[in-house]
Amino acid sequence: MLNEENRKIGRRNFLKAVAAVPAAGAFAWSAFKVDRPLAAGIIGTGGEGRVLIEQTNTQLMRYVAVCDIFEPNRKKGVASCQKVQPDVAPPAEYDDYRKLLERDDIEAVLIATPLWLHAPMTIDALKAGKHVLCEKTMAYSVQACDEMAAAQKASGKILQIGHQRRYNELYRNAVQMIRSGVIGDVHHIRALWHRNGDWRRAVPQSSFDPTPHGYADLEHLVNWRLYAKHSQGLMTELGSHQVDVANWISGAEPTAVMASGGIQRYKDGRELNDHVYNIFEYPNGLTVTYSSIQSNALDNYYEQVMGTRGTVVLAGEGEAFLFMEGKDAAASKATEVAVSTTAAGGPVMEASASRAADAGSGAAVGSASAGYSSLIPYRNELEGFVYSVRTGEPPLCSAAEGRRAARAVLAANQAMERHQRVAIDTPPQA
Ligand SMILES: NC(=O)c1ccc[n+]([C@@H]2O[C@H](COP(=O)([O-])OP(=O)(O)OC[C@H]3O[C@@H](n4cnc5c(N)ncnc54)[C@H](O)[C@@H]3O)[C@@H](O)[C@H]2O)c1
Repeated sequence: MLNEENRKIGRRNFLKAVAAVPAAGAFAWSAFKVDRPLAAGIIGTGGEGRVLIEQTNTQLMRYVAVCDIFEPNRKKGVASCQKVQPDVAPPAEYDDYRKLLERDDIEAVLIATPLWLHAPMTIDALKAGKHVLCEKTMAYSVQACDEMAAAQKASGKILQIGHQRRYNELYRNAVQMIRSGVIGDVHHIRALWHRNGDWRRAVPQSSFDPTPHGYADLEHLVNWRLYAKHSQGLMTELGSHQVDVANWISGAEPTAVMASGGIQRYKDGRELNDHVYNIFEYPNGLTVTYSSIQSNALDNYYEQVMGTRGTVVLAGEGEAFLFMEGKDAAASKATEVAVSTTAAGGPVMEASASRAADAGSGAAVGSASAGYSSLIPYRNELEGFVYSVRTGEPPLCSAAEGRRAARAVLAANQAMERHQRVAIDTPPQA
C-alpha cells in the first residue's frame, strides 16, 4: 500500500527511467490509412463486447452485424454501434453466430462470449474465412487453444487474443525499461487481483429460455463466470492477464505451478473458487506469485516486478511506479520529470531532465499519471487488429501468446484441484 507521497515519487521515478532508455513510444495505428474501414461482425454484446464496440476507431473498422442470443444485450450492442457509427445503417442482428459467419461482406469477427465458446466460435469463423479478435482467455482447454492455432494456420487469417495490456503504452514502456536492466535481475513478480464482493450479476426478469444454447437457466447465462461448464473462474477471468504480463516481461513461460484455493466465502451454489493462490516457477530463477481473492479489496490489482536494483509496480492498468533499492534510491528521488495532459486528453511524458538521454524521441507515451485510462489499450488493441489484418503483420497478442497465458492458468487450476505441483511441460504447438 503506497501513500500519496510515495506514489508521487514512484511515478516520477518511473517516467525518468523510461525516458532514459530507448523509447518504446506510443502506438501510431490511429494514423493508419485504409481504403475502407474493415467490415466486422461481433459475437457477444454483453459487457465486454460493448466496451470493444465503443472503443472502436470507426475510421478503421465498422460493424455490419451483431450477434447475441439474449435480445436485451443484442439491442444494447446495436445501440453501441449506432453511438460510434451514427452515419451508417444499424448493424444487422443475429441470434445464431453461424448465420453471421455466412455473410460474405464480413471480413473480421470479434468474439466476446463466455470462455467455453471461444474455441468453437473462433474455429468456425476462421474456417469461414474471417479474421478473428477473440477475447481472453484464449480457450477453455490447452487442446482447444491448439485447435484454434491450427485453424488459424490453415486459414492464413489473423487471430488475435484480447490481452489488452499488450496494447497498453504504459506496460510497453515498463517492459522496455525492465528489459534494459534498470531494476537489475528480476527474481520475483508478485501479482494480485483482490476484490471484496461476490462477483454476481443481477439476473434480469425475462422469459428467455437459454437451455437450447447450453445454459441450464438464465442464472447460468448471466453468471457464467461462476460455473464450471462455461468458465475456469478467477484464473481465466483475471489471472491470465497478469500471467501474460509476467510471460511478456520475462520472455518466458512457467515450467510448473503450485496452487491452493477454494470456495471459501460464497457458498451460494457457485462451482468455481472464490479464493486462489498460486506460485509459478519460471526459468532463470524467477518465481511469480499470484492471488485473487473476494474478501478484501485493499490494493485492488497490480503487478509488482522486483529486481535486484529496484521495483516496478503496474497498478490498475493505469499507473506505474518505480522504487530503487539501496544507493540507487537516493539518486532516484531527484527528478525534473513532469506529467501534463495533451489537447486530446491523453497523458504525455515531458522528461526535461532525461530528454538528452532520449534525444531522438519526443513521442507521447502512456504515462505513469493516474490519468491513463484503462480504456485506451482497448482502442489500441482494435486499431492494431485492423493494422494486422490489412498488412499481415502478426498481432502483438498472437495465438502463441494467448496459448502461453492460457496454458499457465489452466495448469494452476489443475494444481488447485489436485493439491499437487503441476509441471507445465507440453511443448507449445502454436
Ligand atoms: N479483456 C478484458 O479485460 C475483459 C474484460 C471482461 C470480459 N472479458 C472477456 O469477454 C468475454 C465476455 O465477457 P463479458 O463480461 O462481456 O460477459 P457477458 O456475460 O457480459 O457477455 C457475454 C455475452 O455473450 C452472449 N452469449 C452467450 N452465449 C452466446 C452464444 N452462443 N451466441 C451468442 N452470444 C452468446 C451473452 O448473452 C452475453 O450477452 C469473456 O471471454 C471475458 O473473459 C475480457
